[in-house]
Amino acid sequence: MARLCIVGTGHVGLVYAIAFTLQGHEVHATDVDAKAIASLQKGTPTFYEPGLKKALQKALRTKRLTFSTDVKAGARDAEAIFTCVGTPSREDGSIDLAYVEAAARTVGEIEAGAPARITAALAALREDHLRRARDEIATIEAELAALEGREADGPAERERFGQAVERVVSAVLGET
Ligand SMILES: NC(=O)c1ccc[n+]([C@@H]2O[C@H](COP(=O)([O-])OP(=O)(O)OC[C@H]3O[C@@H](n4cnc5c(N)ncnc54)[C@H](O)[C@@H]3O)[C@@H](O)[C@H]2O)c1
Repeated sequence: MARLCIVGTGHVGLVYAIAFTLQGHEVHATDVDAKAIASLQKGTPTFYEPGLKKALQKALRTKRLTFSTDVKAGARDAEAIFTCVGTPSREDGSIDLAYVEAAARTVGEIEAGAPARITAALAALREDHLRRARDEIATIEAELAALEGREADGPAERERFGQAVERVVSAVLGET
């Protein structure tokens, strides 16, 4: 079983931390939010998900899950570091990676190789996502162009249009 570090104990990081712990791994979960860490140490999640509180308390009882605000200490001995900080959208729709960069810098102060791997993986994921979204949007544009000028209120057209809209939404959300 591995020693893991989670950076960011929000919606994604906390659930990962609990799940990895219950699978038998040793997990050090870290966050810059001292109030959130204090709450998690006491077994109280900072947000609601069905069953989350019970799962957190079960994970804490194993003694393999610890929480702290000391990101460097958590990352120092870890075999793998999961960066789960927020990536909010800017007004123009682009992704704000400032939190990811800040977390990578902190981890980079203790292990020179880790941030490069994190950045490379992130860039590859982003490129892959953008490529798939671009392909999907091009296909949908072609389909809509083919529909143009035709009677568009029949059930078949409405269904095709609905499917096209769903695929745009999925492409934007990265679910394609
Ligand atoms: N929430 C979802 O359902 C969901 C689904 C798919 C993907 N994601 C992605 O997962 C990532 C995390 O999302 P989330 O919803 O868990 O975010 P969140 O806002 O719930 O949690 C982020 C946490 O990171 C902490 N943080 C910020 N900077 C930090 C730093 N430098 N060091 C340590 N901790 C730091 C914050 O205090 C916060 O607790 C994002 O990229 C998001 O797009 C989220």
